Order: sequence, then structure tokens, then C-alpha cells
Amino acid sequence: MDHPWWRGAAVYQVYIRSFADGSGDGVGDIAGLRSRLGYLRDLGVDAVWINPWYVSPMADAGYDVADYRDIDPLFGTLAQAEAFIDEAHGHGLRVIVDIVPNHCSSRHPWFPAALAAGPGSAERARFFFRPGKGGRGEVPPNDWTSSFGGPAWTRITEADGTPGQWYLHLYAPEQPDFNWDNPEVRAEFHDILRFWLDRGADGFRIDAADRLAKDPALPDMASLADGAPRPERGQPGAHEIYRGWRRVVGEYPGDRVLVGEIWMDLQHRAAYHAPGELHTSFSLDLLFSLWNASELRGVIDAALESGAATGAPATWVLSNHDVTRVVTRYGRKDTRFVSYTITSDGSAGQADLILGTRRARAAALLTTALPGGVYVYQGDELGLWEVEDIPFEQLRDPVWERSGHTDKGRDGCRVPLPWSGSAPPFGFSPDQAPPWLPQPAAWRRLTAAAQRADPGSTLSLYRDALRIRRAEPGLGDGPMTWLASEPEVLAFTRPGGFACVVNLSGVATELTGHRGVLLASGPLDDGMLPPDTAAWLRTA
Ligand code: GLC
Repeated sequence: MDHPWWRGAAVYQVYIRSFADGSGDGVGDIAGLRSRLGYLRDLGVDAVWINPWYVSPMADAGYDVADYRDIDPLFGTLAQAEAFIDEAHGHGLRVIVDIVPNHCSSRHPWFPAALAAGPGSAERARFFFRPGKGGRGEVPPNDWTSSFGGPAWTRITEADGTPGQWYLHLYAPEQPDFNWDNPEVRAEFHDILRFWLDRGADGFRIDAADRLAKDPALPDMASLADGAPRPERGQPGAHEIYRGWRRVVGEYPGDRVLVGEIWMDLQHRAAYHAPGELHTSFSLDLLFSLWNASELRGVIDAALESGAATGAPATWVLSNHDVTRVVTRYGRKDTRFVSYTITSDGSAGQADLILGTRRARAAALLTTALPGGVYVYQGDELGLWEVEDIPFEQLRDPVWERSGHTDKGRDGCRVPLPWSGSAPPFGFSPDQAPPWLPQPAAWRRLTAAAQRADPGSTLSLYRDALRIRRAEPGLGDGPMTWLASEPEVLAFTRPGGFACVVNLSGVATELTGHRGVLLASGPLDDGMLPPDTAAWLRTA
């Protein structure tokens, strides 16, 4: 069997505006990223995925792209991006770039051109422009809502000043959806893929990959029968689109990968792994699972079964830039990601951060030991928690405004990383520039510098785990076998005499049948594995 790198890679997610600031404006950038490449190499990851760095008015933190072939000045220049890709390769790191094909920015040249060209024009046909309903076209063309709240349609004013057509945006109004039935859109994206492949990109993280193809009838949601396919996601038209993309990446040497971001259940997600389409997609299922052995076992079994059927490996995700940080989630009674809907104290429910940290550390050993690839969201290796007390007036996520101030949005997981020192900006920015979101003072204990020297730190745990993961031939891609265990304990082996045991019960459990402990997420108790703790064992 063929084992391309991405089947078992540990991929570090760089949320660039919060990773490291080189220019001193309080926003992370490519210069900062380049200066920290040694950190990523020492961490022991195999690849990085960079969130969008393209020219953007930043209505959605860069997911509103105005030029797919250039870098936003906030982040640097194209020459710097090219140099970064080369340097990363020099350190043995692959680079996955984020591609945003469902929509562009309303300032992408195609959109003003569409507004100017008028109804029925070829320029408007690249998007979804439709007349409104009602006597004067004052009602949106259908009842779809935006993922960020409010209607998914915005009415424009035509060139002659009259109220005009409406256009579709599944996200913010500044993010008009492309019409993927239009051959110009398809050709343009093939060209954009080639642009980055030519610059050495090892793959693409495909934003909102399930939303490109739409039911051409754009039916009202309310008109759909129970269980009917959704008209705005998971539509069969996607298959042909991704077969085209797969042909493009196949023209390039090396194993370039297509990873879809698809927030659908595994059964629907797996449809995108059909031969000749996406190589894989994020396994987001752990985000919606309780911290409980039977539920986790179910998620893992389903991923393995699906992988066996389609050939696509699992790619484990504990968190990303769109969800509550794992330490905070695992510190709550209900560990599933809901939304950021706020309570009176501005949080989504009390979190016990000590418990959450213990569980997040155990989960790190679980996910890095499971078959397949694994994604590490920047800051999870430092054990950062969700910042739930960002003052309302400093919130930047469009979700906050679009939800009518009922949902705080995703800023709490996007706070700039603490690198060193004892007070903000914690080495994030030179010259003490205030970071674009405020960092908690308590992060002085969690800086990379403070953790580097401490063998018990979360950073050390990740470094040890990733080092062992690279050295163990049985980790990453490949089979696993469940071991008999107590019901609230997960235990499995990987080839080569390796076992992972995770204790999700309330009492310590015995570690039997091993020849030594390779790594543990917390101190053992007289050789027993305490609750919410994981261990890696040498079994042969
Ligand atoms: C994806 C991104 C998210 C963004 C949205 C619209 O879900 O991860 O951050 O807001 O797509 O592009």
C-alpha cells in the first residue's frame, strides 16, 4: 500500500494573525511566522496549515478574499510567503494553504464588476443574483439564513439608484457566494490552485468544502420534507468539481493533498472521499463528543470503518479557530462544542480549567496515538484556554454583530500566543505593541519560554508525544486493535509493541501487561493510571 505523508501527518494549524507578530503592529504575520519556524521544527510536527493570508478587507478575518494570488499587507508580501514555503521545506515541514472557494470578498474585482454590469450579465452569472419576491421585490429570494446570523441574501442598489436584485451569501454580506455552475469560476480556481502549487504548496485546506454546489432551484428550507437533502450543502455537484481539482493536483510531483472542511456527519462527509475526489477531510466528530469512553469508542470505530471503505484516513481534530478551546470545553459538564451563545457572565457555562487541562492532555495522547493524521491548533500545545472575558467592544468576529449581540463569536480561541515574558504582549509583538485581542495576565505561566524548561508542561508533553510518534513505526497511518478493558477505559495497541490507555472513569485503573511507560499525560499513582489521564506503553 502507498503511504503518502499526509496519511499520518501531525499538522500544526497556524492562525497567522495570532501566531507571531514580526512587524510590531499587534497582528501576527509572515515575518513572525518565519522567525518561529525553529519552534515548529522543535515541536516535531510534520506540516503546517496556514489560515488565509490573502489580500482581504478582513470582514471575516481573511476568509473574505479579494485577491487569491497575493498576500495582504497586514501579513507581508508574496515574496515573503514564497520564502516562508521554501524555509519550511528546508526544515522538513510541509505547507498546506487555506483555499476559500465558496465565496470571495465583496471587494474582489469580480463583485463590483457584477454590480456594475447589471441583471442578466455574464459578470452577475459568476455569483447568485436573483430578483426578490413580493410586489416590489422587497422579500429575499428564499428563506436561507447566513451561518453568521440573519438572512443569507442582501439587496443591492442598481447603477441607476433603484433597489435591485439580491445576492446570496451563506456567511457575511461581505462574502458573496460564487456560482460554481459557471465555467469561469471553475477555471479561475484551477488557475489559483496551480499558482500555489507552483510555489511549492503541499496541499490545500478547502474552506466550507461542502457548500460549493447548490441545488439550482434554491428551494426554501421550509418547503423541504423531513430528511430531504440540504440545498446549500452536501449537493452532488461537488463531486465533479473535486474531480477537476484532483486532476490539477495530480499534475504536480510529490503527494499534494486536498483536505476538506466539511461540517457534516461522517456518512455525508465520506461521500467526498470517493475515488478521484478529496484525499480526506477533517474528522471533526470529537468536537461533538462527550468525554466518555463509549462515545469516543463509537467515533473512533466509525472513523476506522469509513476509512477502510473509502481509503481516506481519519484526521483528528480537538479544536480549531472556529470552536471553543479544548481545555475550556473539557472543563465543562457537557464537553461538546455548542456555540458561543452567552450567559449573563459572558461565558457559555462554568469551566473547571484544572480538570479541562488534565483531560485535554489525555486527549492529546489519545489523538496522536490513533490511526491517521492529527491537527494541532496553535496554542493547544501550550494548554491555552478560551478567553471568555474579552470586553464586548473589543470583539472582532462578525458573528457578534450579525447575531444581534447574542453570540460572542470565535475571538476567544483566537487570542495571540504568549511566547515569553511576564506580561502582555508576552513576546508576541516587538516593541510592546498591544496585540489585536487582549491576552489574559495569567498566561504568564503558559508562555512557550516558561514551558520549554519544564518537563511536566503541556508543551513538553506535546514535544515528547510528537517525537515518539515520529520514531514509532506503528503510529500515524496503520491499524489499531482494541484491548479488553474496563468499560470506562479506552485501551488499544498499535503495531510494534505500542499501547495507549486512557482512563475516563472516576477511579484509578491498573496498567497491566506492559514492559514500561513511554509517556503519560499526568503523574501515575503507584503505577496506576488516575482518572482523566492517558499513558503510552511499551508492550513488547
Ligand atoms: C470556515 C472557516 C471560518 C470562516 C467560514 C467562512 O468555516 O473555518 O473561520 O468564517 O468558513 O469562510
